[in-house]
Amino acid sequence: MGLDTEYTLATGATTRRIYFDSAATTLMMKAAHDVVERFYDHYANTHSILHFGARISTKEYAWAHERILSFLGADPEYYTCFFTGSGTTAGINRLARVFRDIRPEKEVAAVSIMEHHSNDLPHRKHMKEVVHIPLKQHNGSPGCVCLDSLEAILKEREGQINYVAMTGVSNVTGIINPINEAAEICHKYDALFLVDGAQLAAHIPLGMTVPENPLQNIDALVFSGHKTYVPGSPGVVVARKELLSQIEPEEVGGGMVDDVFEDTYQIKDYFPDREEAGTPNIPGAIGLAAAIDILDRIGMTFLMQEEEALIATALEKMKTIPDLTIYGEPDPDVCQRTATISFNIKGMDHGLVAAILNDYFNVSVRNECFCAHPYVKEMIMDDLLDMVDDIEMEDIESIYHLKRGMVRASIAMYTTEEDVEALVVALKDISSRKDYYKSRYHTDERNEYIHNSFQIEHTQQFSIENCIEQLIS
Ligand SMILES: Cc1ncc(COP(=O)(O)O)c(C=O)c1O
Repeated sequence: MGLDTEYTLATGATTRRIYFDSAATTLMMKAAHDVVERFYDHYANTHSILHFGARISTKEYAWAHERILSFLGADPEYYTCFFTGSGTTAGINRLARVFRDIRPEKEVAAVSIMEHHSNDLPHRKHMKEVVHIPLKQHNGSPGCVCLDSLEAILKEREGQINYVAMTGVSNVTGIINPINEAAEICHKYDALFLVDGAQLAAHIPLGMTVPENPLQNIDALVFSGHKTYVPGSPGVVVARKELLSQIEPEEVGGGMVDDVFEDTYQIKDYFPDREEAGTPNIPGAIGLAAAIDILDRIGMTFLMQEEEALIATALEKMKTIPDLTIYGEPDPDVCQRTATISFNIKGMDHGLVAAILNDYFNVSVRNECFCAHPYVKEMIMDDLLDMVDDIEMEDIESIYHLKRGMVRASIAMYTTEEDVEALVVALKDISSRKDYYKSRYHTDERNEYIHNSFQIEHTQQFSIENCIEQLIS
């Protein structure tokens, strides 16, 4: 939904938007939306029991959990799925506290240097120490997490590392990490293994359990429903029950207790109920399970191949654009990628490129550091020197703070070859007419790029109030 939305551009033309910001959030899957719309006719709380609507809600909400477990290849005998927060962040914070509390003698967490802040800061906050695992290098371009370095860290800190938290797919470069192999190494050293699945769940197939090699099993995985085609759905945690059952759940309240007395209470001993205090986001969970079911019907392997082919085409074409730098190892045969490409055009700020793409080409991208500052910094420092003239070494840090960032184009199952072609055509034009575009913009006090003459008040495009007025008139 939203693929056909039209906006009027700086050129005066009105065109369809081309959505390249799926790593931030995916657009809504119409079929999942339609399932939820029909469900609303029966909607009731899962904590009510005996009326028809309550029974339907309770059963379908339970089905949503089961469906997600089977989608991720997580054996329901050993794993549970529960919903929390509005994305991945809440679940990672929750698991960091669980892992800390069930193994208090192990005070260190390890994360890779490519992590989103949501899979770095929770560990810094809840654990005593966090160590960062370096990446493989391919002639100076970073690739996936270096498994030899991971093993070296685990060996050196043996007995101290509680868990390793790693993203399945980078939200900056789309580089895929070998998570099952990483899990095996962690388990050899008695470290738990947590996967940030925010950029993985909608793009690549996954087996959380590997029957032929249980050392490769993933202990816990978290992902965001809003990045899996259902904005408005909750965050998802899939974790081994044996880990969660060792302590009282982090959140307490209605729905997760069997009995409450004035001086004590008794928590349910079954999952997922004990992990979900309060009324859950029932329509969100149902929409998400519907989307997941549809993804499975299409086939995750097929979707992965389609998206990888599109990314390979985009990379190949973008490599030919003068002055365009692609971050991370750009050869998909050397380093497997999916769904995301980040880049800069020499001599142009990322913010300017993103503004031009929007205002002149109706291409929606994200820019800046994508909540992955250490990773972006590692990649950008070298070519920052090329991007600004007459730089003094001592000024590099302050210039980095002013200029830091990239442009990110990210795809999803609705992205087409025509979309990729439109992006490439736009980037070629921007790269070949830098001065023309620069002269069309100025920056405001927040260093944001404002077009000199083209401005559209967003309420001309959409506003809640206008929408309500239309609906009630
Ligand atoms: C890799 C990764 N991890 C975690 C997050 C945080 O997800 P959310 O904002 O849904 O909590 C994101 C969001 O962009 C992400 O890309």
